[in-house]
Amino acid sequence: MRTHYSANITSKLEDEIVLLCGWVHEKRNLGKVKFLVLRDREGFIQVTAKKGATDDEMLEVIDSISKESVIQVKGRVKLNQKAPNGLEINPEKIVLINSSESPLPLDVTGKVPADTDTRLNNRFMDLRKPKIASIFKIRSILINRAREYLGEKGFIEMCSPKIIASASEGGTDLFPISYFDREAFLAQSPQLYKQMMMATGLDKVYETTTYFRAEEHDTRRHLNEVSAVDLEMAFIEDEEDVMRVLEKLVCEMIKEASGCEKELSILDKKINNPTLPIKRITYDSALDLLAEKNKKITWGEDIDTEGEKLLGEVMQEKHNTEIYFITKYPLESKPFYTMPDDKKISRSFDLGYKGVEISSGSQRIHDPVLLKARINYHNLNPDNFEYYLKCFRYGMPPHGGFGLGIDRLLMQLLDLSIREVVYFPRDRHRLTP
Ligand code: 4AD
Ligand code: MG
Repeated sequence: MRTHYSANITSKLEDEIVLLCGWVHEKRNLGKVKFLVLRDREGFIQVTAKKGATDDEMLEVIDSISKESVIQVKGRVKLNQKAPNGLEINPEKIVLINSSESPLPLDVTGKVPADTDTRLNNRFMDLRKPKIASIFKIRSILINRAREYLGEKGFIEMCSPKIIASASEGGTDLFPISYFDREAFLAQSPQLYKQMMMATGLDKVYETTTYFRAEEHDTRRHLNEVSAVDLEMAFIEDEEDVMRVLEKLVCEMIKEASGCEKELSILDKKINNPTLPIKRITYDSALDLLAEKNKKITWGEDIDTEGEKLLGEVMQEKHNTEIYFITKYPLESKPFYTMPDDKKISRSFDLGYKGVEISSGSQRIHDPVLLKARINYHNLNPDNFEYYLKCFRYGMPPHGGFGLGIDRLLMQLLDLSIREVVYFPRDRHRLTP
């Protein structure tokens, strides 16, 4: 239906006939001259109809079209210094494809501000704003780069079931569903399945996936449906091997996003490219750094949101970095499958970015006896994990992996809240649209 997007109209096309499709962004009537601004995915273009030069019927069509209607314009490209991008279309034909009701539920021009709920309730229209669309163009590029990079590095894309029989990260955060006559759950992570893949010999796998988490959080960094890059790799010496893959992947993703010049300029944002290797600090030294700032965290406890935020500031101040690993967490604070380093410490890590956790990972236990003992220790029933434990009894290599939150990475990249970077966020209050 179209020959060009608005952004492809350049002075090289002067006097040529083009076909454009899009939405009526604005309309102006100066009597003898009538203007339309047509908006499409790539930008805006002015359509100018002059009395005398255009037949009267078309002038009437322009008068009758409501804002946000969908139109097709056939017209000639003309240079015009006064037009927003120095170019305009003189229409030969305007077809009203589908008209929009008015008043509009949301002002697409952004002149009338709307609160987050109104915006999310009308997300289809919110996404017509170039600023909002830019977020999702960057999101797409970020995920594509992750896939492409991991493919280049020999990782095989897997697909784990999203309907599962038992918890993978501990029991509390599951959404139960009815599965014919049985109880089942939405998967909170591909954790057990990607580990089972390590017993297949495919060695290096990943998945871009959804986590369902029945967490009752109501914050700017938590959702109940999360997107992530989840990865597992075999034949590792220790968690350092996994961290090296993660840091390169994240740097590649950030680099790709920082190249989205058009979108970043629409958003008025700047992205700093991190340098490798990413700074590593242990959990113990993180606690020391926080104590220096009068933030006390008892050894063994998770670093809370306030602590995470403060740590982000300290890392910037002391080490001049926005991104950092926190390593060697207490064994107690990590899931049952995490490899112990000694009696108290685990071979685990988190990746922090501007004060928010964007990834967690570890080396895993590959010895079935130790694994069963850890399941028992966490008061979980080994019988529920039989399908998983079985894979460890017939030749399981040492392995490890991580989950990288895409929503978290993107929100931190663009300094937005998590709801802003998800098309249709699911939180405690929101189930539609
Ligand atoms: O830290 P999490 O829970 O770790 C796991 O799922 C492990 N199976 C990973 C592994 O391989 N060991 O989740 C991984 C990441 C978090 O760091 C965060 O970025 C994101 O997923 N995430 C959430 N993002 C937004 N809202 C939530 N409720 C999230 N839960 C996890
Ligand atoms: Mg975590």
